[in-house]
Amino acid sequence: MTNHYTPDGKFIPPHAPPLTGEEKIVTTIWKFMRNPLEGFGPLSYRQPIVSLKTARLKMHVVSDPVCMNEVLVKNADAYKKAPINQRILKPATKEGLLSVHDAQWRRQRRGVSPIFQHRYMADLAPGITKVISGFKDKLDKGDGNIELNLAMADLTFDVLAKTLLGDPKGLDRDRLKAATRKVVSSAGTLRPDDLISLPDSIPRVMGPGGYLALRTLRKAANELLDARDPENPGDDLVGLLISAKDPKSGEALSRREKTDNLIGFFIAGHETTALTLTWALYLVGMHGETANRIVEEVRNVVGEGDIKYEHIPKLPFTRAVIDETMRLFPPAPLLAREAQKTNEVGGRVIEPGDLMILATYIMHRTDRLWVDPLVFDPNRFLREPGLNKGKDKFMPFGAGPRVCVGAAFAVMEAMMALATLVRDFEIKPEPDSYPRPVMTVTLRPEGGIHARVKRRSA
Ligand code: HEM
Repeated sequence: MTNHYTPDGKFIPPHAPPLTGEEKIVTTIWKFMRNPLEGFGPLSYRQPIVSLKTARLKMHVVSDPVCMNEVLVKNADAYKKAPINQRILKPATKEGLLSVHDAQWRRQRRGVSPIFQHRYMADLAPGITKVISGFKDKLDKGDGNIELNLAMADLTFDVLAKTLLGDPKGLDRDRLKAATRKVVSSAGTLRPDDLISLPDSIPRVMGPGGYLALRTLRKAANELLDARDPENPGDDLVGLLISAKDPKSGEALSRREKTDNLIGFFIAGHETTALTLTWALYLVGMHGETANRIVEEVRNVVGEGDIKYEHIPKLPFTRAVIDETMRLFPPAPLLAREAQKTNEVGGRVIEPGDLMILATYIMHRTDRLWVDPLVFDPNRFLREPGLNKGKDKFMPFGAGPRVCVGAAFAVMEAMMALATLVRDFEIKPEPDSYPRPVMTVTLRPEGGIHARVKRRSA
C-alpha cells in the first residue's frame, strides 16, 4: 500500500503497464485483446506517432497534441470514424450520431446540439440537484457498503432520465441500466475478427446476452418516442429528436435515426460520467488531503445546502479533481479514425485506408508532456488554468467537429455530484484497493471498487 504514495504523500494510482518491448507478437495481440491499453509498447509513450504495417493494415498510434489536432481538427474532413468503431457500435446505434457521417451526421448534430448549449445548462441543473438529493437518501438508508461503479451508474442514469428524457413515468430504470451495461461490455470486448478489416456485409456478433439487452434498449427508446404527441413533443432531448429538422432541406430524422440516437444517449450519456465519478471518488478516498480540500471549498462556497448552477465556477479545486481524474482515467481512452484522403500527420504521409489510433490515454500519461505523469496531482490544473480547454495535451472529450456533444453537461453533473457527495460523506475504498483500468470501449475498474460510506461529521 505504502509504495502507492510518493515520499511527499502524493498518490500514484493504478495504470495499465505498457509492453516492455520484448514481447513476441502473439503475446502483444493477446494483451491487446484482453485490455487494449496494455497492448502499446514503450515507443508509443516516447514518440508523437508510431506507425505499424501488416499485410492487411497500416496503423498509426498518435499520442501528441499537435498530431491529434491535425487528425481531429485541422484535417477532420480527411477522416471518418474507423470501421472498428463502426463494427462495435453499429449493432446498437447504427443510424445515430455516434456512428453516422457527412450530411447525415451534420443534420443530427444540428438537431441535438441546442439542448447542450451553455445557456440551457442552468435550466438542467435543478434536476441534477434533485437526483443527487435522492441518491444521498439511498446512501443514508443503505448498509454502508457500495460498489462505486454500479452506484455511480445508478446516479448518472437517473440524472439522464430526469433531465434529458423528460422524467418518464413507468421507465424501468434498473432494467435499462443493466441492459446498457450489458450492451457496452458485450459489444466492447475485442475479438480476433476486430483486428482484421472485414467487409460491412459481415455483421459483428455481440457477446452473450448482448442481443437481449439491445432489445430491451430498443423497446424502451420506442416507448419513449411513442409516448410523445408528435405535434407538441416537448423541449427535452426526446422532444428535440422528434422535432429536429435540417434547416436547409426541412427533412426530419427517420424513426430509426430517432431510436438509434436515444440508444446512443443511453450509452454515451451516463456510463462515461459514471466512470469519471467512480474514479474520482476512488482517488479522493485514497488521498485524504484532497478530500479535506474539497470539503473546505464546498462548505465555503455552498454551505450545507443544495448545490446550484451558480456555485460551479466558484469551485476550482473540485473542478481540478475532475480534470485530473479524466487525465489519468479518460473514460474514452482510445479514439479511432480511418483516413479518406492522403495528408500529413507529424510530417508522416497518411494514405487513404490507414487506421489512426488517437491514444488519449497515452497522451495523458507520457513524461514527454507531463511532470510526474503517474502521480495524482489536481494542482497541475490550477497551476496551468487554460489546460482544461481541451485544445492541448488534455482531451478527454476529443476535439474538432466530433467533440463530445455532452461535455458541458457531463462536467456540470460530475462537479455537482462530487462536491455534494464528498462534502456529506466519507467514502473509503476497501484497504489496498488498487483496481486495474480495463478498456471495453470505456475505461472501467476491473472487478469494480468496493467502498464503505458514512456521513461526514460537520
Ligand atoms: C465524462 C463524460 C464524457 C466523456 C469523457 C465523453 C467523451 C466523449 C468523446 C471522447 C467523444 C468523441 C468520440 C470521437 O471523436 O470518436 C464523445 C462523443 C459523444 N458524446 Fe460524450 N463523453 C461524456 C459524456 C457524454 C454525455 C453526458 C453525453 C450525452 C448526454 C455524451 C454524448 C456524446 C455523443 C452523442 C457523442 C458523439 C458526437 C458526434 O459524433 O457528433 N457524452 N464523447
